[in-house]
Amino acid sequence: MERKYYQENVVYQIYPRSFYDSNGDGIGDIQGIISKLDYLKDLGVGIIWLSPIYKSPLDDMGYDVASYYEIHPDYGTMDDMEELIEEAKKRNIRILMDLVINHTSDEHEWFIQSKDPSSKYHDYYYWKKGRNKNKKPPNNWDSMFSGSAWEYDQDNNLWYLHLYSKKQVDLNYHNENVIMEVEKILKFWLDKGIYGFRCDVINQIYKTSLKNGRKKLFMTGQEHYLNQDGNHLILKRFNRDVFQKYDAMTVGETFGVSPQEAIKFMDDELTMCFSFEHLNLDKRSIPVFKKKYHPSSLKNVLIKWQKEVNWNTCFFENHDQHRSIERYGDSKHYYLESAKMLATIILTLRGTPFIYQGEEIGMLDNHYDNLNDIQDVSAHRVYQTIRRLLPLLKEKKVLELVDVNNRDHSRTPMCWDASSHGGFSTVKAWIKESPDYQKINVQSNLDNPNSILNYYKNLIQIRKNHLSISYGTIEFLSSNKNVLCFYRKLENHPAIFVIINLSKKRIKNPYYEQGEVLATNYDVSSIDKLDYLAPYMALVIKTNHQ
Ligand code: NOJ
Repeated sequence: MERKYYQENVVYQIYPRSFYDSNGDGIGDIQGIISKLDYLKDLGVGIIWLSPIYKSPLDDMGYDVASYYEIHPDYGTMDDMEELIEEAKKRNIRILMDLVINHTSDEHEWFIQSKDPSSKYHDYYYWKKGRNKNKKPPNNWDSMFSGSAWEYDQDNNLWYLHLYSKKQVDLNYHNENVIMEVEKILKFWLDKGIYGFRCDVINQIYKTSLKNGRKKLFMTGQEHYLNQDGNHLILKRFNRDVFQKYDAMTVGETFGVSPQEAIKFMDDELTMCFSFEHLNLDKRSIPVFKKKYHPSSLKNVLIKWQKEVNWNTCFFENHDQHRSIERYGDSKHYYLESAKMLATIILTLRGTPFIYQGEEIGMLDNHYDNLNDIQDVSAHRVYQTIRRLLPLLKEKKVLELVDVNNRDHSRTPMCWDASSHGGFSTVKAWIKESPDYQKINVQSNLDNPNSILNYYKNLIQIRKNHLSISYGTIEFLSSNKNVLCFYRKLENHPAIFVIINLSKKRIKNPYYEQGEVLATNYDVSSIDKLDYLAPYMALVIKTNHQ
């Protein structure tokens, strides 16, 4: 059996701006991360994914890069970054950088130069004449943040493409120089000793044509840029020229892929892909509208991906999502139980588990009733669009719609203790702080043996000590529609049995598996007598057979 670091280790995503502030300016920084490495080590983390820390005007909080070779001064310096890589290495922790290459900031030197039609950078981006004598954008594509995907530039009387905010300008991957520039960036960071990359919106980088898209309520134009053949060719090149040579780990943010498409991205391209199907179960196709979540739909989606894709990413949270307990569990009545149930899912399915900062201590969503409290650029853009389309809609209703995709919820500062500002900083943070910090913080979790954090720690150790969880096959058993139940099996190792009630209903226990209870979110005296699965109950059992 070939052992792979990413198969045995857990990834922890850090949103640096909100992780820990070491210098008292209300903004998290690299030294702050260094000072918390022991915490991560203790948790059992083997890989850190850092959201962008590059030089940037921060229009989309760093997902708008102005230089791939410089660190934003808010976070520190390149020396700090090198120290972080070094200190992490000492603790056996590897680092993934966020690779944002679908677009650059409009403040990137390439874009500034590209405004001059005679510059070699002009063709690094999509500069085009508009329709209707240049009055309308070149095509009807939507920006992911709503509105047109094109912006008119007065200086040179042309439009440029931006699938995200107008300060995030799409690069032109038909240009060989762009591909070479990206390879240079990849090598620069890998030579610094990082382990690999989380690749931002990587299945959108290649625009096959700029023709009008079929009119849709959301993402008009996508058939011209999502999962294109040209995209695969470029990733194969990155893999052959760079990733393979460094044995790098890569995880693609591949919004909207089917399992078959994900498999294609894993064929000599990326190590693994993020699928978002399980995160869209409570949203309609226009994502400002919510829909009721049914636990059975989560079960079906998880099983589908586990059966079809050999190696998955297992996660519920990241910096773009609302916190998970309220979405898939019940934060009022079964807070601990449902948080631990979700931990059990990500740590026992087949794939690499990803924990997002704060998830391990059960952080919850924040509350927003005022647009001025929101930092997220996409929330502001959605607000403007709704206001334009429905000028008479009540402000409260508009904010409710905006809030469905307000990404500030997960970006609230990490709560370290019950002191002011949750121990994140000595001063007010750059973003609205969590009102729950006195109860929900790292210290209170550490002090309580029954806490969510201790459950994560325990389960991460269990995952490390039982190779069937990282390398074993997964076999699902049929059961109640709200119960997820499977074996993880590896030759010459005891089979691990996992049973999870995804719902708040009490459900008759379908299987009496014998063995040692490795983890559970209830106080279970004897599994032999377990006639019912309690709400959100999760059990991980080491069986007496293979
Ligand atoms: C996905 C990132 O996760 C998100 O935060 C960002 O806004 C978009 N990509 C654009 O870079």
